Amino acid sequence: MSLLRRKRVEDLQQEALTDHSLHRALGPMNLILLGIGAIIGAGIFVLTGKAAANYAGPAIVLSFVLAGLACAFAGLCYAEFASMIPISGSAYTYSYATMGELMAWIIGWDLILEYLFAASTVASGWSEYVVSLLADFGVVIPREWTMAPWDHVVPPDAGWNLWRVFTEGWTRTGGILNVPAMIIVGVITVLLVLGIRESAVFNNIIVAVKVGVILLFLAVGVMHLNPGNWIPFVPPAEGPGRFGWEGVLRAAGVIFFAYIGFDAVSTAAQEAKNPQRDMPIGILGSLFICTLLYIGVAGVLTGIVRYDQLNVGAPVAVAIDALGSHLAWLKLLIKVGAIAGLSSVILVMMMGQPRIFFAMARDGLLPPLFAKVHPRFRTPHWATILTGLVAMLLAGLLPIGLLGELVSIGTLLAFVIVCGGVFALRFTDPDIPRPFRVPAFWLVCPLGVFFCGWLMIGLPPDTWARLLVWMALGLLLYFVYGRRHSSLATRSAINDTTRL
Ligand code: ALA
Repeated sequence: MSLLRRKRVEDLQQEALTDHSLHRALGPMNLILLGIGAIIGAGIFVLTGKAAANYAGPAIVLSFVLAGLACAFAGLCYAEFASMIPISGSAYTYSYATMGELMAWIIGWDLILEYLFAASTVASGWSEYVVSLLADFGVVIPREWTMAPWDHVVPPDAGWNLWRVFTEGWTRTGGILNVPAMIIVGVITVLLVLGIRESAVFNNIIVAVKVGVILLFLAVGVMHLNPGNWIPFVPPAEGPGRFGWEGVLRAAGVIFFAYIGFDAVSTAAQEAKNPQRDMPIGILGSLFICTLLYIGVAGVLTGIVRYDQLNVGAPVAVAIDALGSHLAWLKLLIKVGAIAGLSSVILVMMMGQPRIFFAMARDGLLPPLFAKVHPRFRTPHWATILTGLVAMLLAGLLPIGLLGELVSIGTLLAFVIVCGGVFALRFTDPDIPRPFRVPAFWLVCPLGVFFCGWLMIGLPPDTWARLLVWMALGLLLYFVYGRRHSSLATRSAINDTTRL
């Protein structure tokens, strides 16, 4: 039964009122900008072109609508939880209150895949853009210092063979270490240790740059549209998942990555000035704004250039090229915007991760070091530094593809559990005050589980295999450490003794 022990929502609400260890410095605008900071990044600047060229064609616009819909269901559920339990830990804490300790541990462990791994993935993308921008100015960094030493391509026939998934397909790239990726993670770690307000100000500035650049692209692009490029809107199917309606769905799974991050707002609940009102505003506001921008960019991109020309890592730059050399300045600006975009994603992801560790350590499931708060900066400095070190190593050593696919499956699993949790809690604890309520929860929550579960099922077997191994490792740690040190366990032991 100890695996199912739950934290009481009332206790968590009380804790939210009385725990002032972290600095409550964020207002609603900061939270929306935090969300946009986490959302717009590699997804739109890197993945959109390939998804259009290989799977959906101009109908990539519909893929963005579909993935946005799945996220909207999850976003509504996050908003209900975050306003009801406005304390750090996000989905981890929500699960602790609804599904018990084991599930909470599983989701906390799973969130590492989302936040920490996303920071490393996006840092690798950041490195590519920075190397290319520096090259434009004649600064060339030796290639071997800008690449991870290994790449990994799973043998296509490996299927569910775990041994082959993990042991075969490793190749040397000729690289030694991805140094730029490590540097950006290091710099952001330092910033995060220094303070939440400082980090938010930095985030606000880079969000302004990236959104400004996207709006500029939209404004220039709209004047150069060639509607002929949108025909056929859904190119005829060419095989499983390639074009046709099936391709639209496949592309939705790929570009789901672009939406990841709105939930990171909820990790800052304990640093929001008025979390019950502002958490839903931050989560849903940022998701809404980004969905509009994404649909706009996807439409304009495929309207300027035919979709089959977009199979590149920098599709927006290719579109600008197609408009003529007089717009070279805009191409440069786009690169700057992309670098800004990727920086803020790393920032918010690396802000989220230590706050989840912080919550887990406060509950005794991780060693107390993770819950230490710096006396002056009032940030969880040890958790931040350890997160930074691991993210640096991953970014320096592992290939971007392998990291990225784990991020999507980990996030989707969290979304499924959160939607299920909101649904369950409406029945188990119907009377708890909910400042924000999911409208028509009996429909929205199951749809969230369905949509996100369905996107998960579409991911390849090797991604699932890695998820299972990661989870097995997590369970081992829980039974070796967390279960015995859980503060709920200690508390119930004290209660038992008192009763005796
Ligand atoms: N949504 C984030 C990005 O696209 C993770 O980079």
